[in-house]
Amino acid sequence: MAKRSLSFVCQSCGATTLKWAGRCESCGEWNTIQEEQQASGIGAGPKTASRSKGRVVPLVGLSGETKEAPRIITGVAELDRVTGGGFVKGSALLVGGDPGIGKSTLLTQASAHLALQGHNIVYISGEEAVDQVRLRAERLGLRDAPVQLAAETSVEDILATLEAKKGAERPHLVILDSIQTLWTEMADSPPGTVTQVRASAQALVRFAKKTGTTVVLVGHVTKDGQIAGPRVVEHMVDAVLYFEGDGAHQYRILRAVKNRFGPTDEIGVFEMTDMGLREVKNPSALFLSERSATAPGSAVFAGIEGTRPLLVEMQALVAPSPLGTPRRAVIGWDSARLSMILAVLEARCGVKFAQHDVYLNVAGGLRINEPGADLAVAAALISSLSGVALPLECVYFGEISLSGAVRPVAQAASRLKEAQKLGFGQAVIPDGNMKEGSKALGHVKGLEELGDLVANIAVSAQKTENA
Ligand code: TYD
Ligand code: MG
Repeated sequence: MAKRSLSFVCQSCGATTLKWAGRCESCGEWNTIQEEQQASGIGAGPKTASRSKGRVVPLVGLSGETKEAPRIITGVAELDRVTGGGFVKGSALLVGGDPGIGKSTLLTQASAHLALQGHNIVYISGEEAVDQVRLRAERLGLRDAPVQLAAETSVEDILATLEAKKGAERPHLVILDSIQTLWTEMADSPPGTVTQVRASAQALVRFAKKTGTTVVLVGHVTKDGQIAGPRVVEHMVDAVLYFEGDGAHQYRILRAVKNRFGPTDEIGVFEMTDMGLREVKNPSALFLSERSATAPGSAVFAGIEGTRPLLVEMQALVAPSPLGTPRRAVIGWDSARLSMILAVLEARCGVKFAQHDVYLNVAGGLRINEPGADLAVAAALISSLSGVALPLECVYFGEISLSGAVRPVAQAASRLKEAQKLGFGQAVIPDGNMKEGSKALGHVKGLEELGDLVANIAVSAQKTENA
């Protein structure tokens, strides 16, 4: 029997310590350290591993012939967009997301599409019985797709099954739903622990590289956005995709946060229907569809997600506060960024929010990470505070610096083109972007200072009063 050693492993970051502690010294998380038994060999470090004499590997130069990585195109356009043109053969991917968000649905649909194209697809479910997976496929109208199913959790059994398929039967794509349910005999701790997840993922990634099969690992994410336990898996795989959305909306966003074979920040937009996930070809129209006509506090931001322009409504509510420390709440944007915009508006433009609660919401459940949204947020805030609705057919973008200057952003032309496509006739943009944008829409205004925006909205307020 292999020699066993006891160690304590943080379930959040995977750090190993010799004794238990309430707080992990490595990542700072509380109550994440658990006792785990480890066979010498796995994680036992170089001291105990038997050292073999290394072999000489050939070194090559940077220049030379390289082939484009061969890909498996799923035919689900939004998924292919996020992966950068399909799954790369021999790569390993991690698809993360909250439980119930639709990971299994997405991958069942993609598997079925591929199987119908003639690819060998294996779907291994560690969470659901074969009947449940079949029921889902039936609901999705994909019952006849020749996907090969199994309900299994042992990595050894799974690898034996996959390796037994040779020649024309060799699987092209294997889906493992989910990595947290898998266990391997190589590690001695219960399923779901970091040691198990790491060892299982390692074995499967090795299988992918060795055979050229694409392996997709599904992982559940904790509330704070970490893939439960195994942050370590993120480093092992070639691409990490997150499937996100909120319970109140039907929209689901697939986002690449790491991709060795393509762009990151690219998003795919889906809508969850009772017939499964439907691709959304024109997300801007979807995110603007619920916009109310003339409410103050609403500004349309012309943003870019990856390479795709996307229009979204930023909603602000500024209301007098009874509290000593007024409330600031943000959904879908960075709260530190909101505090910064409020401070710049107060310090540089004399707009006072001190006695007011401020709420900011990105409509449609989308999350925006771009600083280019600053100007749209500022416009929504000023509009709500002054009670003046912004022009209905106007879009905003621009980054705001601490000095109150409005800085240019990338890809102004495609933002404006998208706005024009959706029937917008006006735009307020950074002066530095005027070269690209001056002719795109009927009326484009370039701003150098945030103060100009405040003055503009005040002027339109007077106009409305006089009218
Ligand atoms: P699922 O793919 O099982 O989520 P995950 O694998 O991420 O845990 O999706 C579950 C949810 O999706 C469930 O709440 C029901 C809903 N759903 C639909 O609305 N329509 C459908 O056609 C399917 C299959 C699921
Ligand atoms: Mg699932």
